[in-house]
Amino acid sequence: MDRIRSFCDTEVWEGDLPPPRETLLQKVREAEGLVCLLTDRIDAELLNEAPRLRVISNYAVGFDNIDLEEATRRGIIVGNTPDVLTETTADFTFALMLAAARRLVEGERNVKAGVWKTWGPLILQGQDVHGATLGIIGLGRIGTAVARRAQGFGMKTLYTNPTRRKSLESELGLHYRDFHTLLAESDFITIHVNLSPKTHHLIGEKELEKMKGTCILVNTSRGQVVDNMALYEALRDRKIAYAALDVTDPEPIPINHPLLTLDNVIITPHIASASVATRTKMALMAAENLIAGLKGELPPHPVNPEVLKNADA
Ligand code: DGY
Repeated sequence: MDRIRSFCDTEVWEGDLPPPRETLLQKVREAEGLVCLLTDRIDAELLNEAPRLRVISNYAVGFDNIDLEEATRRGIIVGNTPDVLTETTADFTFALMLAAARRLVEGERNVKAGVWKTWGPLILQGQDVHGATLGIIGLGRIGTAVARRAQGFGMKTLYTNPTRRKSLESELGLHYRDFHTLLAESDFITIHVNLSPKTHHLIGEKELEKMKGTCILVNTSRGQVVDNMALYEALRDRKIAYAALDVTDPEPIPINHPLLTLDNVIITPHIASASVATRTKMALMAAENLIAGLKGELPPHPVNPEVLKNADA
Protein backbone atom coordinates (compact mmCIF):
# COMPACT_ATOMS: atom_id res chain seq x y z
CA MET A 1 0.00 0.00 0.00
CA ASP A 2 2.88 2.41 0.76
CA ARG A 3 4.32 1.84 -2.68
CA ILE A 4 0.95 2.41 -4.36
CA ARG A 5 0.08 5.44 -2.21
CA SER A 6 3.38 7.08 -3.09
CA PHE A 7 2.42 6.87 -6.74
CA CYS A 8 -1.30 7.64 -7.04
CA ASP A 9 -4.53 8.57 -5.29
CA THR A 10 -5.92 5.47 -3.71
CA GLU A 11 -9.20 4.21 -2.42
CA VAL A 12 -9.07 1.02 -0.37
CA TRP A 13 -11.84 -1.41 0.50
CA GLU A 14 -11.11 -2.02 4.19
CA GLY A 15 -13.71 -4.73 4.80
CA ASP A 16 -12.64 -8.24 5.81
CA LEU A 17 -15.11 -9.67 3.31
CA PRO A 18 -15.00 -8.83 -0.41
CA PRO A 19 -16.78 -5.62 -1.40
CA PRO A 20 -20.44 -6.10 -2.30
CA ARG A 21 -20.89 -6.24 -6.05
CA GLU A 22 -22.80 -2.93 -6.12
CA THR A 23 -20.00 -1.17 -4.28
CA LEU A 24 -17.38 -2.54 -6.62
CA LEU A 25 -19.41 -1.56 -9.69
CA GLN A 26 -19.77 1.93 -8.32
CA LYS A 27 -16.16 2.37 -7.21
CA VAL A 28 -14.60 1.34 -10.52
CA ARG A 29 -16.35 4.16 -12.38
CA GLU A 30 -13.51 6.62 -11.82
CA ALA A 31 -10.66 4.13 -11.46
CA GLU A 32 -7.71 4.02 -13.86
CA GLY A 33 -6.13 1.10 -12.05
CA LEU A 34 -7.55 -1.75 -9.98
CA VAL A 35 -5.85 -4.14 -7.57
CA CYS A 36 -8.18 -7.05 -7.00
CA LEU A 37 -8.26 -10.40 -5.27
CA LEU A 38 -9.33 -13.76 -6.63
CA THR A 39 -12.64 -13.22 -4.81
CA ASP A 40 -13.49 -10.24 -7.06
CA ARG A 41 -15.27 -11.11 -10.29
CA ILE A 42 -13.95 -8.84 -13.01
CA ASP A 43 -16.27 -9.42 -15.95
CA ALA A 44 -17.81 -7.51 -18.86
CA GLU A 45 -20.48 -6.00 -16.61
CA LEU A 46 -17.82 -4.51 -14.35
CA LEU A 47 -15.60 -3.41 -17.22
CA ASN A 48 -18.58 -1.62 -18.79
CA GLU A 49 -18.77 0.48 -15.62
CA ALA A 50 -15.06 1.33 -15.77
CA PRO A 51 -14.40 3.42 -18.88
CA ARG A 52 -11.12 4.85 -17.52
CA LEU A 53 -9.59 1.53 -16.43
CA ARG A 54 -6.15 0.85 -17.95
CA VAL A 55 -4.69 -1.80 -15.68
CA ILE A 56 -5.97 -4.64 -13.52
CA SER A 57 -3.48 -6.08 -11.06
CA ASN A 58 -4.59 -9.41 -9.62
CA TYR A 59 -3.13 -10.35 -6.24
CA ALA A 60 -2.84 -14.00 -7.30
CA VAL A 61 -1.17 -16.07 -9.96
CA GLY A 62 -4.49 -17.56 -11.09
CA PHE A 63 -6.65 -15.07 -12.96
CA ASP A 64 -9.79 -17.09 -13.67
CA ASN A 65 -11.72 -14.39 -11.78
CA ILE A 66 -10.99 -12.00 -14.65
CA ASP A 67 -12.56 -12.12 -18.08
CA LEU A 68 -9.27 -11.79 -19.90
CA GLU A 69 -10.80 -11.64 -23.34
CA GLU A 70 -13.01 -8.70 -22.38
CA ALA A 71 -10.12 -6.89 -20.70
CA THR A 72 -7.86 -7.41 -23.71
CA ARG A 73 -10.57 -6.31 -26.12
CA ARG A 74 -10.83 -3.05 -24.19
CA GLY A 75 -7.04 -2.54 -24.18
CA ILE A 76 -6.77 -3.11 -20.43
CA ILE A 77 -3.53 -4.72 -19.32
CA VAL A 78 -3.78 -7.44 -16.67
CA GLY A 79 -0.97 -8.44 -14.30
CA ASN A 80 -0.61 -11.42 -11.92
CA THR A 81 1.88 -12.76 -9.36
CA PRO A 82 3.65 -15.85 -10.73
CA ASP A 83 6.83 -17.56 -9.47
CA VAL A 84 6.99 -16.08 -5.98
CA LEU A 85 4.38 -18.51 -4.67
CA THR A 86 5.60 -21.62 -6.47
CA GLU A 87 7.75 -23.13 -3.72
CA THR A 88 5.39 -22.09 -0.93
CA THR A 89 2.44 -23.73 -2.68
CA ALA A 90 4.48 -26.86 -3.35
CA ASP A 91 5.42 -27.01 0.36
CA PHE A 92 1.75 -26.84 1.26
CA THR A 93 0.84 -29.51 -1.28
CA PHE A 94 3.26 -31.81 0.48
CA ALA A 95 1.88 -30.78 3.86
CA LEU A 96 -1.59 -31.84 2.70
CA MET A 97 -0.29 -35.05 1.18
CA LEU A 98 1.53 -36.04 4.37
CA ALA A 99 -1.34 -34.96 6.60
CA ALA A 100 -3.84 -37.06 4.66
CA ALA A 101 -1.55 -40.07 4.28
CA ARG A 102 -0.65 -40.15 7.97
CA ARG A 103 -4.11 -39.11 9.21
CA LEU A 104 -2.60 -36.22 11.07
CA VAL A 105 -5.79 -34.21 11.49
CA GLU A 106 -7.76 -37.21 12.80
CA GLY A 107 -4.96 -37.93 15.26
CA GLU A 108 -4.80 -34.36 16.51
CA ARG A 109 -8.59 -34.25 16.86
CA ASN A 110 -8.56 -37.47 18.88
CA VAL A 111 -5.91 -36.16 21.26
CA LYS A 112 -7.85 -32.96 21.96
CA ALA A 113 -11.11 -34.92 22.38
CA GLY A 114 -9.49 -37.20 24.98
CA VAL A 115 -9.88 -40.24 22.75
CA TRP A 116 -6.18 -41.17 23.11
CA LYS A 117 -6.11 -43.85 25.81
CA THR A 118 -3.08 -45.93 24.90
CA TRP A 119 -0.57 -46.79 22.20
CA GLY A 120 -2.06 -49.42 19.88
CA PRO A 121 -0.75 -51.30 16.84
CA LEU A 122 -3.86 -50.60 14.80
CA ILE A 123 -4.53 -47.02 15.83
CA LEU A 124 -4.78 -44.57 12.92
CA GLN A 125 -2.76 -46.57 10.47
CA GLY A 126 -2.16 -44.57 7.35
CA GLN A 127 -0.15 -44.86 4.17
CA ASP A 128 3.52 -44.32 3.43
CA VAL A 129 4.41 -41.38 1.25
CA HIS A 130 8.00 -42.48 0.69
CA GLY A 131 8.29 -44.96 -2.12
CA ALA A 132 4.69 -44.43 -3.28
CA THR A 133 3.63 -43.42 -6.78
CA LEU A 134 2.70 -39.78 -7.19
CA GLY A 135 0.65 -38.56 -10.15
CA ILE A 136 0.95 -34.88 -11.00
CA ILE A 137 -1.77 -33.38 -13.17
CA GLY A 138 -0.21 -30.31 -14.77
CA LEU A 139 3.57 -29.99 -14.88
CA GLY A 140 3.81 -26.21 -14.79
CA ARG A 141 5.76 -24.22 -12.23
CA ILE A 142 4.04 -25.59 -9.12
CA GLY A 143 3.69 -29.14 -10.47
CA THR A 144 7.43 -29.17 -11.16
CA ALA A 145 8.24 -27.87 -7.67
CA VAL A 146 6.12 -30.70 -6.24
CA ALA A 147 8.00 -33.19 -8.43
CA ARG A 148 11.32 -31.96 -6.99
CA ARG A 149 10.07 -32.58 -3.47
CA ALA A 150 8.81 -36.05 -4.46
CA GLN A 151 12.38 -36.98 -5.43
CA GLY A 152 13.43 -36.45 -1.82
CA PHE A 153 10.72 -38.84 -0.70
CA GLY A 154 11.87 -41.51 -3.14
CA MET A 155 8.52 -41.44 -4.93
CA LYS A 156 7.93 -42.76 -8.40
CA THR A 157 6.52 -39.68 -10.09
CA LEU A 158 4.15 -39.71 -13.03
CA TYR A 159 2.83 -36.63 -14.73
CA THR A 160 0.34 -35.67 -17.34
CA ASN A 161 0.45 -32.38 -19.20
CA PRO A 162 -0.75 -31.02 -22.55
CA THR A 163 2.87 -31.13 -23.75
CA ARG A 164 5.60 -33.56 -22.77
CA ARG A 165 8.47 -32.02 -20.75
CA LYS A 166 11.30 -34.32 -21.77
CA SER A 167 14.15 -32.37 -20.18
CA LEU A 168 12.31 -32.43 -16.83
CA GLU A 169 11.63 -36.14 -17.30
CA SER A 170 15.35 -36.85 -17.34
CA GLU A 171 16.29 -34.19 -14.76
CA LEU A 172 13.72 -35.34 -12.19
CA GLY A 173 13.18 -38.95 -13.24
CA LEU A 174 9.57 -38.32 -14.20
CA HIS A 175 7.36 -40.62 -16.24
CA TYR A 176 4.80 -39.25 -18.67
CA ARG A 177 1.38 -40.90 -18.66
CA ASP A 178 -1.83 -40.05 -20.45
CA PHE A 179 -4.46 -38.67 -18.10
CA HIS A 180 -6.44 -41.89 -17.56
CA THR A 181 -3.38 -44.08 -17.07
CA LEU A 182 -2.07 -41.64 -14.48
CA LEU A 183 -5.38 -41.81 -12.61
CA ALA A 184 -5.21 -45.60 -12.52
CA GLU A 185 -1.54 -45.98 -11.53
CA SER A 186 -1.10 -43.31 -8.84
CA ASP A 187 -1.20 -43.74 -5.05
CA PHE A 188 -1.36 -39.96 -4.66
CA ILE A 189 -2.76 -37.54 -7.22
CA THR A 190 -2.10 -33.82 -7.02
CA ILE A 191 -3.72 -31.21 -9.27
CA HIS A 192 -1.81 -28.22 -10.64
CA VAL A 193 -3.81 -26.86 -13.56
CA ASN A 194 -5.38 -23.48 -14.22
CA LEU A 195 -9.14 -23.28 -14.11
CA SER A 196 -10.57 -22.94 -17.61
CA PRO A 197 -13.60 -24.35 -19.43
CA LYS A 198 -11.37 -27.33 -20.31
CA THR A 199 -10.39 -28.09 -16.72
CA HIS A 200 -13.77 -27.39 -15.08
CA HIS A 201 -14.75 -30.70 -13.37
CA LEU A 202 -11.66 -32.37 -14.83
CA ILE A 203 -12.07 -34.79 -11.92
CA GLY A 204 -15.63 -36.10 -11.77
CA GLU A 205 -17.38 -39.40 -11.15
CA LYS A 206 -15.77 -41.22 -14.11
CA GLU A 207 -12.26 -40.07 -13.20
CA LEU A 208 -12.70 -40.95 -9.52
CA GLU A 209 -13.87 -44.44 -10.60
CA LYS A 210 -10.54 -44.94 -12.37
CA MET A 211 -8.46 -44.22 -9.25
CA LYS A 212 -7.18 -46.88 -6.88
CA GLY A 213 -9.30 -47.56 -3.80
CA THR A 214 -6.30 -46.45 -1.71
CA CYS A 215 -5.74 -43.25 -3.69
CA ILE A 216 -5.27 -39.91 -1.93
CA LEU A 217 -6.34 -36.85 -3.95
CA VAL A 218 -4.82 -33.42 -3.26
CA ASN A 219 -6.07 -30.18 -4.76
CA THR A 220 -4.35 -26.83 -4.34
CA SER A 221 -5.40 -25.41 -7.72
CA ARG A 222 -9.02 -24.26 -8.00
CA GLY A 223 -12.07 -25.88 -6.43
CA GLN A 224 -14.05 -26.05 -9.66
CA VAL A 225 -11.49 -28.44 -11.18
CA VAL A 226 -13.04 -31.18 -9.02
CA ASP A 227 -16.73 -32.05 -8.96
CA ASN A 228 -17.16 -31.76 -5.20
CA MET A 229 -20.38 -33.81 -5.05
CA ALA A 230 -18.80 -36.65 -7.03
CA LEU A 231 -15.81 -36.46 -4.71
CA TYR A 232 -18.09 -36.60 -1.67
CA GLU A 233 -19.74 -39.75 -2.97
CA ALA A 234 -16.41 -41.39 -3.83
CA LEU A 235 -15.01 -40.64 -0.36
CA ARG A 236 -18.22 -41.69 1.41
CA ASP A 237 -18.29 -45.00 -0.47
CA ARG A 238 -14.50 -45.47 0.02
CA LYS A 239 -13.96 -45.61 -3.74
CA ILE A 240 -10.87 -43.56 -2.98
CA ALA A 241 -9.23 -43.36 0.43
CA TYR A 242 -8.79 -39.70 1.25
CA ALA A 243 -8.78 -36.17 -0.12
CA ALA A 244 -6.96 -33.07 1.00
CA LEU A 245 -8.30 -29.86 -0.46
CA ASP A 246 -7.08 -26.31 -0.10
CA VAL A 247 -9.71 -25.14 -2.57
CA THR A 248 -13.42 -25.92 -2.84
CA ASP A 249 -16.41 -25.05 -4.95
CA PRO A 250 -17.79 -22.73 -3.73
CA GLU A 251 -15.42 -20.91 -1.41
CA PRO A 252 -15.88 -20.82 1.45
CA ILE A 253 -17.41 -24.28 1.52
CA PRO A 254 -20.86 -23.99 3.20
CA ILE A 255 -20.81 -25.35 6.73
CA ASN A 256 -23.59 -27.82 5.84
CA HIS A 257 -21.74 -29.23 2.82
CA PRO A 258 -21.73 -33.06 2.93
CA LEU A 259 -17.93 -33.15 2.46
CA LEU A 260 -17.60 -31.69 5.93
CA THR A 261 -19.33 -34.72 7.45
CA LEU A 262 -16.53 -37.08 6.38
CA ASP A 263 -13.45 -38.10 8.37
CA ASN A 264 -11.44 -38.94 5.27
CA VAL A 265 -11.16 -35.40 3.96
CA ILE A 266 -9.01 -32.50 5.08
CA ILE A 267 -10.09 -29.04 3.97
CA THR A 268 -8.06 -25.88 4.48
CA PRO A 269 -9.21 -22.34 3.57
CA HIS A 270 -7.22 -21.62 0.38
CA ILE A 271 -3.96 -20.88 2.19
CA ALA A 272 -1.38 -22.75 0.11
CA SER A 273 0.52 -19.55 -0.71
CA ALA A 274 0.01 -18.00 2.72
CA SER A 275 3.50 -17.60 4.13
CA VAL A 276 4.48 -14.13 5.32
CA ALA A 277 7.36 -13.96 2.87
CA THR A 278 5.34 -15.08 -0.14
CA ARG A 279 2.28 -12.96 0.52
CA THR A 280 4.62 -9.96 0.93
CA LYS A 281 6.29 -10.70 -2.40
CA MET A 282 2.88 -11.09 -4.05
CA ALA A 283 1.80 -7.72 -2.65
CA LEU A 284 4.93 -5.97 -3.95
CA MET A 285 4.49 -7.59 -7.32
CA ALA A 286 0.86 -6.53 -7.48
CA ALA A 287 1.90 -2.96 -6.65
CA GLU A 288 4.61 -2.92 -9.34
CA ASN A 289 2.22 -4.38 -11.93
CA LEU A 290 -0.31 -1.67 -11.11
CA ILE A 291 2.17 1.18 -11.23
CA ALA A 292 3.73 0.09 -14.51
CA GLY A 293 0.28 -0.24 -16.05
CA LEU A 294 -0.72 3.23 -14.86
CA LYS A 295 2.47 4.60 -16.43
CA GLY A 296 1.47 2.97 -19.71
CA GLU A 297 4.38 0.56 -19.42
CA LEU A 298 4.37 -3.22 -19.65
CA PRO A 299 3.94 -4.56 -16.09
CA PRO A 300 6.70 -6.89 -14.86
CA HIS A 301 4.20 -9.77 -14.96
CA PRO A 302 1.58 -9.21 -17.63
CA VAL A 303 -0.85 -11.92 -18.67
CA ASN A 304 -2.01 -10.14 -21.84
CA PRO A 305 1.12 -8.30 -23.04
CA GLU A 306 -0.40 -8.13 -26.52
CA VAL A 307 -2.48 -5.17 -25.29
CA LEU A 308 0.56 -2.88 -25.24
CA LYS A 309 2.17 -4.45 -28.29
CA ASN A 310 -1.02 -3.81 -30.25
CA ALA A 311 -1.12 -0.24 -28.94
CA ASP A 312 2.46 0.33 -30.21
CA ALA A 313 1.68 -1.07 -33.65
C1 DGY B 1 -3.24 -17.87 -6.59
O1 DGY B 1 -2.35 -17.01 -6.49
O2 DGY B 1 -3.82 -18.09 -7.65
C2 DGY B 1 -3.58 -18.67 -5.37
O3 DGY B 1 -4.70 -19.42 -5.51
C3 DGY B 1 -3.63 -17.78 -4.13
O4 DGY B 1 -2.33 -17.48 -3.82
